[in-house]
Amino acid sequence: MKILVTGGAGYIGSHTLVELYKAGHTAVVVDNLCNSSSESLKRVRMLTNSDIPFYQVDIRDSKGLDRVLEENADIDCCIHFAGLKAVGESVAKPLEYYENNINGTLVLLDCMRRHDVRNIIFSSSATVYGNPAVIPITEECPKRPCTNPYGQTKSMLEQILTDLHTADARWNIVLLRYFNPIGAHESGLIGENPNGIPNNLMPYVTQVAVGRRPELGVFGNDYDTPDGTGVRDYIHVVDLARGHVSALSAIRRECGLVIYNLGTGNGYSVLDIVKTFEKVNGVKIPYSIKPRRPGDIATCYSDPSKAFRELGWKAQYGIEEMCRDSWNWQKKNPDGYALN
Ligand code: NAD
Ligand code: WQD
Repeated sequence: MKILVTGGAGYIGSHTLVELYKAGHTAVVVDNLCNSSSESLKRVRMLTNSDIPFYQVDIRDSKGLDRVLEENADIDCCIHFAGLKAVGESVAKPLEYYENNINGTLVLLDCMRRHDVRNIIFSSSATVYGNPAVIPITEECPKRPCTNPYGQTKSMLEQILTDLHTADARWNIVLLRYFNPIGAHESGLIGENPNGIPNNLMPYVTQVAVGRRPELGVFGNDYDTPDGTGVRDYIHVVDLARGHVSALSAIRRECGLVIYNLGTGNGYSVLDIVKTFEKVNGVKIPYSIKPRRPGDIATCYSDPSKAFRELGWKAQYGIEEMCRDSWNWQKKNPDGYALN
């Protein structure tokens, strides 16, 4: 299939492009580079040995998107990654987050409809479960209020896409709820490249390991978890990327609207990550215990069995490979894409 990949220069998008080409698909990338660099696409082109077309277009620019879809009239499906994703920033800048994520998706959907493309895979998040009603979390677990505007945009966009499918059953929509993606392509050529101080655990750990930050702050050790630190379902970004390739099979069989968790089903604590990272990579991660981070929950991990039953998808990599590949990327690119 030929896929329009919005946000394709970003962390998950770049890894997904590699897996799409490996599986024999082709892609057209749209990204405004507000949180990424075109260097990632250069490297994806190297890895895939393919000249992937790129349009530096904002998804809120309907004329720009029209041009992309006119020049690529054979696009079958969109994988929609483009969006702002920093939880803390979304609390400080709610209007920017609603405007970019909600309005951007509305413009994209309208444009797709006008060009008769009614297949979309959407990057949703486990954040829509809020503080989950049951663990492990199945797709039937009720959605709960998110504690930040970023999470609200994911939850609202799921609702908007559901309403769209109700109104017009020609749409095929796959909502993929990601758990915690970490790791990088095994080549170390592409990986996560956060701007400024990382919000997420693994990029913070790798920046400590590479000497860019003195120590990791562990946000709370008094949760109701085995060692008191937060437990999450970390998933290798390459497994996550392959989940998108598998989701195309649902689109192919005209699935209507379907929802899948993409996680491993395993929960690891912050200290599990620190210890595994140290063991696998032979580096020390100094840390100190800090107060809990507002909005955090104790435990979040998936039941990913629906994706296996219906898509045949299952995560292949374990926590050791995730730690190994995160470090391999950071070690080879101490300043991300910046110095290269
Ligand atoms: P990322 O920031 O690396 O990639 C997002 C890309 O979208 C960036 O390249 C950015 O430049 C682009 N973008 C943002 N707004 C745009 C706009 N208006 N027009 C065009 N391009 C725009 O983030 P990521 O980690 O690769 O996440 C991809 C998607 O997955 C996002 O929607 C994110 O919310 C979602 N998600 C991420 C995680 C995670 O932990 N990384 C977890 C769950 C869901
Ligand atoms: C993981 C654990 C922290 C940083 C977020 C978003 C979620 C999704 C994925 C997009 C927690 C602890 C972290 C640090 C720490 N993104 N931690 N020190 O919060 O599970 O999920 O990213 O959809 O929506 O909320 O991931 O990596 O920030 O935190 O102790 O410097 O690590 O408290 O227990 P989180 P995270």
